[in-house]
Parts: sequence; structure tokens; C-alpha cells
Amino acid sequence: MNGKAELIIDNQRLELPTTIGSEGEVGIDISTLRDKTGAITLDPGYGNTGSCESAITFIDGEKGILQYRGYDIAELAAKSTFIETSYLLIYGELPTAAQLAEFSALLTDYQMLHEGLRFHFEGFPPTAHPMAILSAMINAASSYYPNMVSGKTRVERFPHHAARLISQVRTIAAFSYRKARGLPVIYPKTSLKYTANFLHMMFSLPNEDWTQNEDIVRALDLIFLLHADHEQNCSTSTVRMVASSRANLYASCSAGVCALWGPLHGGANQAVLEMLEEIHQEGDDGTRFLNDVKNKVGNRRLMGFGHRVYKNFDPRAVIIKEQCDKVLSQLHKSDPLLDIAKKLEEIALHDDYFISRKLYPNVDFYSGIIMRAIGIPMDMFTVMFAIGRMPGWIANFKEVLEDPHSRISRPRQIYTGPTLRSYTPLDTRG
Ligand code: CMC
Repeated sequence: MNGKAELIIDNQRLELPTTIGSEGEVGIDISTLRDKTGAITLDPGYGNTGSCESAITFIDGEKGILQYRGYDIAELAAKSTFIETSYLLIYGELPTAAQLAEFSALLTDYQMLHEGLRFHFEGFPPTAHPMAILSAMINAASSYYPNMVSGKTRVERFPHHAARLISQVRTIAAFSYRKARGLPVIYPKTSLKYTANFLHMMFSLPNEDWTQNEDIVRALDLIFLLHADHEQNCSTSTVRMVASSRANLYASCSAGVCALWGPLHGGANQAVLEMLEEIHQEGDDGTRFLNDVKNKVGNRRLMGFGHRVYKNFDPRAVIIKEQCDKVLSQLHKSDPLLDIAKKLEEIALHDDYFISRKLYPNVDFYSGIIMRAIGIPMDMFTVMFAIGRMPGWIANFKEVLEDPHSRISRPRQIYTGPTLRSYTPLDTRG
């Protein structure tokens, strides 16, 4: 492409500039389109629309490439930790030893919730979904930091708020689990690292600490790392949209939690396990279920399959699948749901319905089985995704905050309702 695109609309020829990304992606800049022609673009679901330029994450869906700040996900998964990767996403470079120590110290400083915040948990009924609690509590947390309000957000205080949010999301998640089960809350321990501390808050008892198991800690840390960012997905673009109005970091990330909750997005990890359990209970090996999916019976989908961007394979799914086998063998566990998942994958990967639509396992297909083996209950799965995604949301919020050209996000629409008509008085209607 020569840096220009041409559009002909009603015989009017319009030259549009292009923007080329660092990996060669081409974007046609249509920002003058409406001014010059009166027309807008229409792209439901935004499959062809770039909403921003971003230097955080690169995905090539055709080739199955995912890179955080230029580092391949497989290399980070093998060599890094969730916290180091979080720093990379937010600040753009892998931290030096001193920077990592400083970041970790901030996370430790902010791991306790404001004691007043603890009482908010009491207001939720036992039926509350942990994602509802998480979103509400993150938003409520901003009330304790009034200087964090909208336009006054100060970039120099940003590292504190970012660390507080990453640290406290895990405390809120563990507290909501304990509350929902009528268990006493367990406070974080300064001596423990991020993921080990989370497992301690989830599973320790007041009179007995959870026995730290390095394999489990590493497996969960890897799940967090693999979820840490994924460019302009539904929740991240929601965070950016809320941030574009100059709403604060907590409000923006709380909105991200809500967007993530849906079963087509982060909620898929819970939906996968529900699907596998249902297949298991019905005594099906997956064949009957897949036939229903292909025949669109009840609009069923094979949850954990398919992706808007990946059309070949999801590199996160490859890593997770390997980890899944490892965790189950380390814990000397077998799981009939894993057998069903493998069978579904095997059939689907050779079936024309899935091949022709380019549907492959995504990150959520096997992550639920690992979390189940660790002892994390199903309704907490999407919360695990949210803990992992927090650094990605924060990095995207920071990009919006620091962009001198940032404007409030405000898409247009094509109106399809009635044209102008007169008001009908109530007694003459119908
Ligand atoms: N099972 C069966 N059919 C499917 C599936 C699936 N999982 N996904 C898409 N299709 C079909 C769909 O019915 C449609 O078929 P047809 O052309 O006959 O109408 C075709 O494939 C295209 O589907 P689409 O809904 O237009 O695709 P999309 O890009 O809008 O949706 C998706 C992407 C991820 C929402 C979708 O693949 C899906 O619903 N997957 C299951 C839910 C899931 O696992 N979500 C987690 C995604 S990864 C985690 C994350 O990053 O959020």
C-alpha cells in the first residue's frame, strides 16, 4: 500500500491517508469521511474497525501470534511471572531488578482493603455472582481515594493507583469467595508473593495455613499471565471508552469487569465447564452435543471454541492445554471432563462445520479444568480472568490518559426507526 486509499462515493472520489502499524498492519484513516461526504462507515461488531493506535499488544490472528510489548507470549509464559509481565504491559519495558522490587513493594503496601470497604461485602445476598461483587467493589474502592476523580487524575500518582488496583482485585476476589461460603475472611500475608498470597486468602483457615504447592502457584500464575492483555477485545475497549470520558481508573476497570462477565467473552470459561458437566451428566461422549451445535439446536455453541481474531489457533490455548495435562498429573488427578474436552476437540478439529468457519479451541477451553483441579469453584473462573486482565486494562487506561489527542469515544449510527410523525393523543390510539 502506498500510504493512500481511494473511495468513490456517488461519483465523488475521496483520497484517504493510511496508517501503517509497526508490524505492517494497514489502517485507512476515515476521520474526514463524514465532513467531506456526509457518510459514515457501518461495521456492526467492529470486525473491520480500528478504534485506536496502541503500542501494548500485537495479535496476528491468521498466524496465531500474540506479543506483549514485542515479546512472544510463549517466551513470557516460559520465563516470566504475572507480576513482571504486568509491569511490562503497563510501563512498556521489562523491569530492572530495582524496578521490580519497587513495584512488588507497592503491591504489598496496597494489598489490604480499607477496613470500611470490608463492610460493603455484607450487603450482597449469598446468591450474588462474584463478578457482580467484583465490579461493585472496584467501583466502591474509588470512594476512598477522592483525589482520583475524573479530570484531576494525576499521572504522577498513577503508579500508586495501578498497584493498588492490581493488588486489591485479588483481595476483593478472595474475600467475595469467603463471604459467599460463609467462611471468615483471611487477610493477605506480606511474606507471600502475589499468586501464592491469593491462594492463601482463598484456602487458608484462621487456625491453619493452606499448604503452599509450587506447582499450583505456578499454574495459576501462568493463567493470570496468559490473560494479562489481548488488545481491543470487548472489555478492554469498554475500559478505553469509559476512560475517554475522563472517568477514573476504578470506574473504567469496573466497567471492564462487567463487559468481561458475558459468556461470549470472559464468562466462557465458566460456560465451558457447565457445558462439559452437562455432557457428562447426560452420558454423552460429546458426539450428540456436537451434532446439536452443528444443527444449531437451541442456538447452542461449542463454548471455548472460536475467536473473532484467531483464525488458525489461539497460542494461549496451546500453552494452557499442555499445562492442563501437567497440573492433573502433578496433582495425581484424573478428570472425566478433561477426557470429554479432548474428545470434543478431536472431533471438532476434523469436522467441516468447525474447519470451514475456522473455529479452534481458545484460551477458555482448558483453563477451567486447571482451575477446577486447583479447587477454584466454577463461579470464580471469570473472576480469575479479571484478575489476570487487570494489568492490560490499566495499560490501556494509561494510554488513553497520556494521549494528547484523545477524544471522547462517541460512535455514530444509521437510524432505522420511524421518520417524523405527529403525536397521537392517548384516547385516539390503538
Ligand atoms: N460453536 C459453534 N459455532 C460457532 C462458534 C462456536 N463456539 N463460534 C462461532 N460459531 C459459528 C457461528 O454460529 C457462525 O456460523 P454461521 O456462519 O453458520 O452463522 C460463524 O461461526 C461465525 O460466528 P460469529 O458469531 O459471527 O463469530 P464472532 O467472531 O462474532 O464470534 C466468538 C466470536 C468468540 C464470540 C464465538 O466464536 C463464540 O461465541 N465462541 C464461544 C464462546 C467463547 O468461547 N468465547 C471466548 C472467546 S476467547 C476469550 C476472550 O478473549 O474473550
